[in-house]
Parts: sequence; C-alpha cells; structure tokens
Amino acid sequence: SLPVPNVQQLASRSEGVPVRYIRPELELERVSNGEYDRIPLIDMSKLNDVRDDEAAKLHSACKDWGFFQVINHGVAEEVILKMKADIQEFFSQPLEEKMEYAQLPNGIEGYGQAFVVSEEQKLDWGDMLYINAQPINRRNMRLWPSSPSSIRASLDQYSIELEKVAQSLMISMAKNLGVEPEKLLDLFKEGVQTVRMNYYPPCEQASKVIGIAPHSDGSGLTLLNQVNEVQGLQIKKDGKWVPVDPIPGAFIVNVGDIIEIMSNGVYKSIEHRALVNHKKERLSIAAFHDPNVDAMIEPLPNLHTLDQEKQAPNYKSISHQDFKKLGRKMKLDGKNKGL
Ligand code: SIN
Ligand code: FE2
Repeated sequence: SLPVPNVQQLASRSEGVPVRYIRPELELERVSNGEYDRIPLIDMSKLNDVRDDEAAKLHSACKDWGFFQVINHGVAEEVILKMKADIQEFFSQPLEEKMEYAQLPNGIEGYGQAFVVSEEQKLDWGDMLYINAQPINRRNMRLWPSSPSSIRASLDQYSIELEKVAQSLMISMAKNLGVEPEKLLDLFKEGVQTVRMNYYPPCEQASKVIGIAPHSDGSGLTLLNQVNEVQGLQIKKDGKWVPVDPIPGAFIVNVGDIIEIMSNGVYKSIEHRALVNHKKERLSIAAFHDPNVDAMIEPLPNLHTLDQEKQAPNYKSISHQDFKKLGRKMKLDGKNKGL
C-alpha cells in the first residue's frame, strides 16, 4: 500500500484537481437518465407474513438486481441519527485530530484512503474511516476515534443493530433458496463485521472523478447508508449505470461475492461505484457482513444437488482466509475488488 494525499485537504486548496484523479473513460460511459428503474424496495415487517408476497419480492431482488433497499428494518431511528451526526462531526474536525487514528503502514484500518498498489493507479476522490466492528476481539481501539466523545458508543450500537438486520435478511434469503436457515446462520454466527465510513469532498471537476471506482463487494452482505442523502451510488444494470436514490431511514442492501458463492450463483454480486458532487460533500457508511473466520466459502450443500440440471457446484470451496487473500491479489492483478 502506497501513501496517497488526503482528499479533504486537497479539495480545500485552490490548485485544481491533480491528474491522478481524472478519469477520461467516464465520458464514454452510458448512464441512465431520468427513465431508470428504481432498485426494489423491501418492507422487512412483511417478510414473515405468508399472506404477503414480500419474500418473493426479496428473492427476485437478490436474483435479478443484487441490490435493494429495506424499510421497517427494526433499527431505532435514534441509533441511525446518532451515528450519522457523529460521523459527520468526525470528518469535520481538523486534519491533525483525524490523523490520531491514521492507518498504520500497510494497514487498511483507521483513517485514510483505500488500498493503492501502484504509482500509476488512478485515485479515488474520497477519504475513509475503516474499522473492525465484530466480533469484539477484532477491534483495534487505538483506531476507533474517541472524538466526538459519543462516536464509540454510536458505532458500537450501530454495529450491533446492523448485525441483526443482516442476520434477519439471511434467514429470509435461506428460506427463499430452500435452505435450512440454520445452515446459513451457523456460518455467520461469529460473523466478521467491518464498517467503512466514506467522506467525499465536493469536487470542481465532479464529472471527471470517481469516489469509489467500479467494484463488486467481497463481503457476504453489505448494508449501506447514504448519510446526508446526497446521491452518488450507481449500480451496473443491463450494461448501464443506474443511480440509487437515497430514501431517508432506509438501508441499501447488496449481495456480496460470498453470498453469491453460497447461493451457487442464484444471487448476484453486482458491480457498483460512487460518484461525487460538484457542490456538496457526500458521506456514506457501508457495513460489511462476512462469515466466521473459520467458515468455508462454498455453495450451500443442498443448493446444487436440488437443481436437477446442475449436479456440480458452480464455485470451488475456499477457506475464508484464502478468499480474503485472493481478493487482495486480484486487486494487485488490476481487477477491482471491494473491501
Ligand atoms: C457509497 O455509496 O458511497 C459507497 C459505495 C460502496 O461502498 O461501494
Ligand atoms: Fe461496494
């Protein structure tokens, strides 16, 4: 990992956008205009009601979109509002304060920027605070900010509540796949959860830079919060980039590579990216839900045997550890893997 500039500081100067951030290819891309389909909206309070077709809606959202938004997810509004307020306050502090929690050499945790592997690589227009949240013994409290003073408690609460949402969605997903929910839940019982908080400063050349370059998530399930409701997330759908409109109080959920594998490819981990705004700063919080450290990443047993046409699994088995190493290696090989 090579050191890169702090983007918030870069944006506050008047010297223009350095060429390392400019992406000429952006002008050639196809973006949907006003006429795009919205990603499915799932009401989680209806998921266990057999008289309702919400579960069927969730199934097709995971198969056909890989992305959806959830409402009535059970997370108390004050937990979300507190988290949002504290992370906004964190990023608004002077650089020296934030640097107290700076990434260590070769580490991704803490305050800083995403992995950079070469001197030539284009850079993302954003800073982040990335922390290990669950299980608790993976937390490095040295890198958990203590200012603003309530941010640790906010993060802790947020982490616990989102873990519950992820597990509850996995129960419904397992049922939809015809798998015993316990089979999937067991793999996530001591699940690894990491939280990436993103800060994208406004950019005078917003249409020429990218906040997070196109990638699919290497996670199981990702829960995203577009903190200050500035649009920026786009997903690749039928060859075009489709914006995801922020809905206040909702979470955006996406199937990561691990759930794609566990579902034997029935569910899809979709490529997406984050754009930045010309005038407004943008913040987002992504919580990644991964299996237990010792879990095997492989299609769930009865999925490929149930399917009459396909007896063989579509993916090879790999240990969780090797899977994460592979993700980093693919990044080195120039392929884009998210965290
Ligand atoms: C965002 O919308 O800012 C985050 C996108 C991502 O996590 O890939
Ligand atoms: Fe992502």
